[in-house]
Amino acid sequence: MAKKRRKLDQFLSPRKKNQETVLAERTVLFHRVFRLVLLTLIMFLLAVLAAPASPAHAVGVGLLLLVLAVLGGLYLNRFVPGVFDRRGSFAKFVFLVLVTIGLYRFILFMGWSPYMVPLAMFAMVATLAYSQLAAMLLTLAFGFFMGLTSNQIHAMDMRHRVDFALALVVTAGGLAAILGMRRIRRQSKPAIVGFYAGLVQASIIVALKFLEPELNLESLLVPEEAQKFLIDPAWGFLGGLISGGIVTCLLPAIEKFFGVLTDRRLLDLYDPSNELLRVLREKAPGTFQHTLGVMELARNAAEAIGGDALLTQVGTYYHDIGKIMKPEYFVENMGEDRSVHDRLRPSMSKMIIISHVKDGIEFAREAGLPQKVIDMIPMHHGTTMVEYFYQKARRESGAAEDAPGEVEYRYPGPRPRFREAGILMLADVVEAIAKTEAEPNPSRFRAMVHDQILKRLLDGQLDESDLTLNDLRLIEESFVRTLTSMYHSRIKYPKGVEDRPGAPGSPPPLPPPGKTAQGLKHDTGTFRVLADGAASSRRSDAAFGQPD
Ligand SMILES: [Fe+2]
Ligand SMILES: [Fe+2]
Repeated sequence: MAKKRRKLDQFLSPRKKNQETVLAERTVLFHRVFRLVLLTLIMFLLAVLAAPASPAHAVGVGLLLLVLAVLGGLYLNRFVPGVFDRRGSFAKFVFLVLVTIGLYRFILFMGWSPYMVPLAMFAMVATLAYSQLAAMLLTLAFGFFMGLTSNQIHAMDMRHRVDFALALVVTAGGLAAILGMRRIRRQSKPAIVGFYAGLVQASIIVALKFLEPELNLESLLVPEEAQKFLIDPAWGFLGGLISGGIVTCLLPAIEKFFGVLTDRRLLDLYDPSNELLRVLREKAPGTFQHTLGVMELARNAAEAIGGDALLTQVGTYYHDIGKIMKPEYFVENMGEDRSVHDRLRPSMSKMIIISHVKDGIEFAREAGLPQKVIDMIPMHHGTTMVEYFYQKARRESGAAEDAPGEVEYRYPGPRPRFREAGILMLADVVEAIAKTEAEPNPSRFRAMVHDQILKRLLDGQLDESDLTLNDLRLIEESFVRTLTSMYHSRIKYPKGVEDRPGAPGSPPPLPPPGKTAQGLKHDTGTFRVLADGAASSRRSDAAFGQPD
């Protein structure tokens, strides 16, 4: 009976999951449609209220907006689904739209030139918050919206009450701004982008003025006429400048509000004088040295696959900050006395080791680090196992029933969910084991790196990381190149001053001569043991079967 029941459950289980998936997809679709309709209504009300005209005009504007919103929504849904997926992000998007349209209506209400409208500002913020593609789609839609709802007719074709000139000018300014917003390394960058957007707007206005049939070129020689001619281009230029100025001033607030991680913010965090890094260097110098080694490996690998090298570096900087709490329990910070874990049960040692992830997340939150950098803290271990203590617990438990399960000795995760986090996980383990290599040379490094990457791949740790097999090949080659250059001096000058253990910038000490990886493998009395067969040194994280 029980067997039948189990079979039935096995049969139903995937079908139930499929049903749940279908229902979840329907709910998401319903939410997206609802939000789209809501947005259209808001824009319609703004358009009609702002530009009161005949009922026929209102119907025309409404229809145009509906088509525009549906098309724009479908495109966004297809290419940038994040905008409509979560309630919070949709609310922020609506806020951004309302602020932009509010500023636009305010400028018109004050009787200022509509060429000042800050569509370039909207484009810059949308690029920061979403992507260049999303910003491009939104700028096209809102440029048309502004042309459609402008009640000051500058249009080339007066009969249709649509200000095509305005739409063209502000859209071009917005598109120029999007191009310039690729990498924001300084807070002043949006101001410069705004300057160029203003130039584009001014140029288009000038070009459109030359297209006007009533323009008399000779009249431009008269100073008053030339001044009149240049007023609109000047407003257009000012519009770009204002957009850039607003984004520059509000950049930190925009980053925070939209959860954006710009290069400027990353460069701030990369400063080694930051409080957290200073404390890490003072309280856990061994961990800090390990961090620098991992950073070298991870940055080069990120560059090799075209990933975000700066994010990888910053994530690496903070990945082990949780070790500040109990640095003495991590092998790279231990002095001569290595018995600290001998006095503890394996389960307790495991808890202390794993807790550096939780502590790290708390420190990072307190310091206000960006979410993506915080995410890299738990992801650098994923759900890997604290293998040394797992094996120790199994040896001590003896009887099969009491033996601990693998799950109890695994990190809580999550596994890496983006490429840079995947690279960090691999660089972390490779750096820890490379330090223990008795005879560092490219072929040994290649074998070790290949084994470690394969091990994590087969353990499913990289399943969600977006790393392709080709990426892993490039990462492997990059790691071998970096390790070879990092340990080159150690091979060349084994007795040099720089190689003295503890000397600033020196590589980690070698195991005693003649002690190879295999030799250390069976040395069960100290943390030189590696349960998974990799070699370990007195300083290595790998002594615990995992780099921590
Ligand atoms: Fe760690
Ligand atoms: Fe680490």
